[in-house]
Amino acid sequence: MLIAAYPGSFDPITNGHMDIIKRSSRCFDKLYVAVFENPAKAPLFTVEERVVMIREECKDVPNVEVTSSQGLLVNFAREKGIRVLVKGLRAVSDFDYEFKMALMNKKLAPEIETLFMMTSSEYLYLSSSLVKEVASYGGCVRDLVPPSVERKLLSKFQRSV
Ligand code: PNS
Repeated sequence: MLIAAYPGSFDPITNGHMDIIKRSSRCFDKLYVAVFENPAKAPLFTVEERVVMIREECKDVPNVEVTSSQGLLVNFAREKGIRVLVKGLRAVSDFDYEFKMALMNKKLAPEIETLFMMTSSEYLYLSSSLVKEVASYGGCVRDLVPPSVERKLLSKFQRSV
């Protein structure tokens, strides 16, 4: 059984993340979507809120389990028998950051592979940070995030649909 994880901060989940989840889940027997706190980023949603939103969006993807964890990603992976870490790659700007993490994870756990999946072209420009910024100024984020996430963003920023 080939088990993979798609880790991230998902604050909040975007249609770009959903694209990677749906496409990569077809490549493995089981895919964990694992929410981690990223200390470099100030969160808008709690980890619990993020897990609930992702679970809702993944309820029809049969081999996906959504969970959260703390500490090192490779420790989580070893606990769950995960052999592959899936990362989405958008533009060249992602490469340096992702390459560093992949190499560090390889050093910590040589038996675990990182696989990069190219983001579909319509999501190349999309990021949770930009979505939050646009939503905070009242801009429209429809088509960038799932509808239930759009509603949560609007209520965080106290706006109505
Ligand atoms: O969506 P993000 O914020 O780019 O995800 C980054 C994440 C959560 C995958 C990364 O910060 C991570 O792996 N955190 C767990 C702690 C850890 O293992 N750090 C060392 C990474 S080399």
